[in-house]
Amino acid sequence: MAKAGHKSRMNSSSHPARLRRSVLCVPADNERALSKIASLSCDAVIYDLEDAILTDRKAEARTMLARHLGENRPAGIEIIIRINSFRSPFGETDLAEAIGLQPDAILLPKVESPSDIQSVADILSEKDAPDSLRLWAMIETPRGVLNAAAIAETGRTSGGRLDCFVPGLNDLRKETGVPALPGRPHLVPWLMQILLSARSCGLDVIDSVFNDFRDADGLDAECRQGRDMGFDGKMLIHPAQIAPANEAFGVSPEAAADATLIIDAFAKPENAGKGVINLDGRMVERLHLDQALKTAAKANAIQRKDKTA
Ligand code: COA
Ligand code: MG
Repeated sequence: MAKAGHKSRMNSSSHPARLRRSVLCVPADNERALSKIASLSCDAVIYDLEDAILTDRKAEARTMLARHLGENRPAGIEIIIRINSFRSPFGETDLAEAIGLQPDAILLPKVESPSDIQSVADILSEKDAPDSLRLWAMIETPRGVLNAAAIAETGRTSGGRLDCFVPGLNDLRKETGVPALPGRPHLVPWLMQILLSARSCGLDVIDSVFNDFRDADGLDAECRQGRDMGFDGKMLIHPAQIAPANEAFGVSPEAAADATLIIDAFAKPENAGKGVINLDGRMVERLHLDQALKTAAKANAIQRKDKTA
């Protein structure tokens, strides 16, 4: 499932970059929800051991997750486990057990500094976890937002393992007092700061959750906003949110057609030696060809995924 567009990733990622349009969260202690995951069309699933699990359910949630991944491990879906913070009594045990479950990535909550990433990466190396086991980071506290650029830099270090940022707006609203308003006007600057920080180090970045899972119009609007801001996909809380996210963060027929137009134009012999061409009154440069090739590769990856579904 190679998604072009991240070949220039600057970290030491050894797995091919992936589609991450729809990233569904599921509380690890919800048996009914767990049983549905394998049949869903999300690109990734985050099994949550953190916010969605009550303190006295943490151990039970780990046991249920281990059983689920042993007996009903979803195929063709990227598997991420969100553990508790190392500042809580649960982080260490969560990490040790999560490594044994061989997810694609471990999502660290409330990351506030580069050392929050580096210390976990060091533990993974000590435990000989394969390099393919990546780290994702929730940026969801004021300090996390302020330090986002420095945190992203850990993705460039050898063994840094960092792959992806996920802003957590529920926590950020709680910490800052910014209310949940349509269009997220006061949160957009922080979201863009997180996005820019991620991109400065070649990381993926996933938009935050939309809580009102029965509000289809509100979700559509927020998915479009997230796509236009440059996010790779959206973190979701309910199966009904998967199709709208796949649509918004996919490749529209118009975008696919335009990519083909640009690729075909540069393939013409008369344009072989040109860095810039006139495409029906529009300036098109080789950098646009790079973008078009990425769009085409993403469209192909989506087609392949749809075929195997
Ligand atoms: N993953 C998989 N299946 C889910 C699901 C999820 N995240 N959320 C709901 N479902 C299933 C339900 O089990 C239910 O199945 P059923 O018809 O067989 O009973 C079906 O989808 C319809 O669910 P619905 O009745 O609309 O909602 P609910 O009351 O069961 O659950 C929430 C609502 C919000 C509690 C639930 O969606 C949830 O826990 N979401 C994830 C929350 C989370 O992970 N938070 C932390 C990160 S922000
Ligand atoms: Mg949170």
